[in-house]
Amino acid sequence: MKLLDPCTLTFFGAGGNLSRRKLIPALFHLETVKRLPDHMVILGCDITQRERSEWLSFVSDILRELHGHNIDEEALRRFCERLHYFAIPPGDDAAYERLQQLLNNDPVFPPNIVYYMAVRPADYPVIIDRLGNLGLLAEKTGWRRVVIEKPFGYDLLSAQTLQASLYRHLDEPQIYRIDHYLGKGTVQNVMVFRFANLLLEPLWNHHYIDHVQITHSETLGVDGRADYYEGAGALRDMVQSHLLQLLALVAMEPPVTMDAEHLRDEKVKVFKAIRPITQNAVHAHAFRGQYASGNIDGKSVAGYLEEEHVAKNSTTETYAAMKLFIDNWRWAGVPFYLRTGKRLAQSSSAICIRFKNPPQDLLRHTRQGPAVANWIMLGIQPDDCLKMEMQVKVPGLDLHTRTISLDATYRKDGEEDYDAYEGLLLDVIMGDHSLFLRIDEVEAAWRVVDPVLKVWSMEREFINTYPAGSWGPRGTYRLFDRDDQFWRHGLDPSGADLQAY
Ligand code: BG6
Repeated sequence: MKLLDPCTLTFFGAGGNLSRRKLIPALFHLETVKRLPDHMVILGCDITQRERSEWLSFVSDILRELHGHNIDEEALRRFCERLHYFAIPPGDDAAYERLQQLLNNDPVFPPNIVYYMAVRPADYPVIIDRLGNLGLLAEKTGWRRVVIEKPFGYDLLSAQTLQASLYRHLDEPQIYRIDHYLGKGTVQNVMVFRFANLLLEPLWNHHYIDHVQITHSETLGVDGRADYYEGAGALRDMVQSHLLQLLALVAMEPPVTMDAEHLRDEKVKVFKAIRPITQNAVHAHAFRGQYASGNIDGKSVAGYLEEEHVAKNSTTETYAAMKLFIDNWRWAGVPFYLRTGKRLAQSSSAICIRFKNPPQDLLRHTRQGPAVANWIMLGIQPDDCLKMEMQVKVPGLDLHTRTISLDATYRKDGEEDYDAYEGLLLDVIMGDHSLFLRIDEVEAAWRVVDPVLKVWSMEREFINTYPAGSWGPRGTYRLFDRDDQFWRHGLDPSGADLQAY
């Protein structure tokens, strides 16, 4: 295990949603398994005035609620010793100077510093400017690293503007653009699955693969984040980042090595090969929807327009689906279907790869209905799993076939489960960029979705709706290239037969 540098992890937006739901639990988990550096201090910054003791209670309450009676009290004690708090009230221009004094002069804070932007995207350049102007980003006494959450920009142009503002104070190696999907174990397993198993390689191309589906569905609604979500929508929130990253891992060529630059070179090549969607082809390639009221787990839930802080005439999409083609040697003609939605029937993320039918249907007399294709499925959540569907003979005198699912669940009993953020936080402290996005990757991903965003932003009069608890708006089937392609809901064999709308 690599020895980690002593450091100060400063996070802005410390009391916010991301911090409460993901960062604090992830850091605590690292504490319980003793993976944080010995001399690491965690400095929470936010607009609320709080004493250190109040901050400790705030954090302890979050962790106690999460872990209940099973909480590791000794780890909690160690964790609290690391915690400090610093208030930056709005309009208090001197606050950053006080922060500078604190970080420069108080020996409690090691001079290697991570600044984590867990704030609204509009605040990134403001905070970075202030830190930069006070010399807090200069690597004189130690390293300085900045973690930027997605979405990086609002479209290509704003991403480039944001980047220009970062480059005023930071060099590229200091910037960690996070996409937490790359920190998920099963997502990394896509690379292991592909590049450590030779038997797949001959099949992994347009000769054998019919199409690829990448789905992220959630039963949750906008979950108190309407302020952000209203301006983002599902395409920016999930597709431009997480789902395109998954697509890149499925589609990329083997990198020269697993080093950050080699990996990222290959992902960029995939994005560059995605066929641009022209303005008049947007409706053939993209579909959006918004949830109306409905039922989730037997409880009735409000529609998007009834959520707090949502405009009554909002056409922000809570569901987005896309069809993309990668015009390169490996993938010519293979559609990649991507979809995501809030308030859908289930919470799950998966990559489902459907193979072509055999060239001759020799067994057509053994079944009723059309030929059944092979599928390979990588379940990302809730369960990380790997499944493969094949046809076998039904035992008995007659030659009948049925689908079986080979389930290669790879987690063994007792193997620890980590959320995405644990590994990524350690990577930042170690200075490993492999699972972070390079700016050309981000730009290329914006180029893919920008034409759709433009057309949707002009069509503000109408949006298709879908009942909460369903699988999305009717009409998304229009994206499919052929009648025998349809959304797959779930990873059991029955999921393949569900004719979805
Ligand atoms: C975030 C999005 O990046 O990812 C959220 O902003 C979404 O809207 C979340 O709910 C999904 O992440 P996970 O890890 O829960 O699948």
